[in-house]
Amino acid sequence: MADMSVKIAGVAFSNPVIAASGVFGFGREYARMYPLEKLGGISCKGTTLEPREGNPAPRIAETPCGMLNSVGLQNPGVDAFIRDSLPWLRKQGTVIISNIAGKTVEDMCEVAEKLSDTDVDMIELNISCPNVKEGGVAFGTTCSGAAEATAQVRKHCKKPLIVKLSPNVTDITEIARAVEAEGADALSLINTLTGMRIDVNTRRPILRNNTGGLSGAAVFPIAVRMVWQVYNTVKLPIIGMGGIYSGRDAAEMMLAGAAAVQVGAAVITNPYAPVQIASELEQYLDGHGIAAASELTGGVQPW
Ligand code: SIN
Repeated sequence: MADMSVKIAGVAFSNPVIAASGVFGFGREYARMYPLEKLGGISCKGTTLEPREGNPAPRIAETPCGMLNSVGLQNPGVDAFIRDSLPWLRKQGTVIISNIAGKTVEDMCEVAEKLSDTDVDMIELNISCPNVKEGGVAFGTTCSGAAEATAQVRKHCKKPLIVKLSPNVTDITEIARAVEAEGADALSLINTLTGMRIDVNTRRPILRNNTGGLSGAAVFPIAVRMVWQVYNTVKLPIIGMGGIYSGRDAAEMMLAGAAAVQVGAAVITNPYAPVQIASELEQYLDGHGIAAASELTGGVQPW
């Protein structure tokens, strides 16, 4: 049997398949279906300093081979997360990543500081949410914004720091470089691509926020391309995500350069997806005589 364990920024994962932030809440609903220790890790819903109700509905729209969301970072706030979810999450036997966001850099620093005094394993700095008016992707689309957010949060963050990058940029490698220079320990990519649907009868956008973030199978080739480009630019470990639905997709993302993967949209239609993907990945490794999942990372042989 192949060794499924991977290590990212000094943190050991039992396998490289992580439930992505947003689709998995804080894990409780899924724990009724399977033990969460089957997952490599959980990236919790983006958490802010104050509670947020998120955007008005409708905030989900179907698209061919994917979906648009404009949730708007609905979450109970960092204090409630630490008090109500973290003690339970800690007992689930998997790596706990706290995804954090904020209206301002100061907000994100304060959230990082509060979490640094807890036993979360890693912090994932979300500078790439396209659905909020203040903060979010505004930090992640310029090198200076991404660098400044990373540098400031780094000063307050005592945990391994992952920075989650936006694909809504001209050159993602420049952003990756800027973030690496300011002390990130790892990168995760890609967050969603900004999209829009319109109801042709009412002439209204389907999403109340007008636009939303596209995820799902439609974005997979873009995510693979960006992970490959970033892998060839920086030395940081990469967590790849965007449209992963199968063990073969996970293998492809790792061959592009990812050390681990996150599974997002697939969970919406199949809550068992991350567990099935981990099992399919193991079968793929065994079938190809590959001794360890980590051997896949960056293994593509470009023409
Ligand atoms: C949201 O809550 O709007 C989605 C989060 C994200 O795209 O980072």
